[in-house]
Amino acid sequence: MKLNALFRRAVEIGMDADPRSKKELEKILKKQAERAKKLTGKEMDLFDDERTWNPYGDSRIIAGTGEEEVQNLMIGIDVETPELLLADRLREKGVKIDCIMTHHPEGRALADLDKVMPLQVDLLAQCGVPVNHAEGQMKPRMDRIWRSIHADNLFRTERAAELLKFPMFGCHTVSDNLVWRFMEKTICAKEFDDLGAILQAILDIPEYAQYAKKGNPPIIVNGSERSRPGKIVATEFTGGTNGPEEYLAEQSQAGVGTILSMHVTEKTLEEAKKHHVNMIQCSHIASDTIGINLLFDILQQEEKDLTILPVSGFIRVERT
Ligand SMILES: [Fe+2]
Ligand SMILES: [Fe+2]
Repeated sequence: MKLNALFRRAVEIGMDADPRSKKELEKILKKQAERAKKLTGKEMDLFDDERTWNPYGDSRIIAGTGEEEVQNLMIGIDVETPELLLADRLREKGVKIDCIMTHHPEGRALADLDKVMPLQVDLLAQCGVPVNHAEGQMKPRMDRIWRSIHADNLFRTERAAELLKFPMFGCHTVSDNLVWRFMEKTICAKEFDDLGAILQAILDIPEYAQYAKKGNPPIIVNGSERSRPGKIVATEFTGGTNGPEEYLAEQSQAGVGTILSMHVTEKTLEEAKKHHVNMIQCSHIASDTIGINLLFDILQQEEKDLTILPVSGFIRVERT
């Protein structure tokens, strides 16, 4: 399968699991295409054509033409120059690697990370937070993320991939959407007596179990094993990065009792305590791993000869 085709299919799968409807996403893409038609000069030069079909700025091909054949894929949660050197060493020893995928964004996918954050507004709307509140609170946080990433050295990894002749792509929100939907179905939709029971259910998920065995279990960061959960949501699993801490008060007012998160910032934790919202920090890397596994369960089903070499925190767990 060509890299272009594989990546396009991955984006489609991410869209199927998005908190927004297919119609909503198509509307966003159409608006981008219409905007592009009206641009001239430098603005036209700088327009990112990808935006007319891929709603995820943080997921894209970062090295290669896309015309490369992909059969043996190396996948990592963070792929930077060290992992590319590892891939090159392995290739020298005879391991077949013809393409590399990273979860956490690199290159332009990192530069555009803030662009996926509006998804958070729809995520919170599903919990009953008015869109005008969530949008107003998100904007300053989005600007902060944009300014902070703007100063990074963004294109080191893609250059290393080019020099070592590895085509490379990233799927970030694409696979985070899948783990968000999975947690909604597997945990949030069920009833639990207390947070202790939720922890047990999380530990029944193989990726979390494997990480727990190595000392990285899901932990309660606010509340106790005996706390009653109330309404459970997984609002901190997708949407690029953590939302603003103001989201805690909003969710509390909207009736949320327990938030499942990949990673909880100190400011968010303070707010959670103030507003009596329980928080469970599910292991970050195990959570990212679940999203990638769900994505490749579908891709490997469709493309039988695709093989995966897991590195950098990713472990392959297949679900049938
Ligand atoms: Fe993630
Ligand atoms: Fe992550």
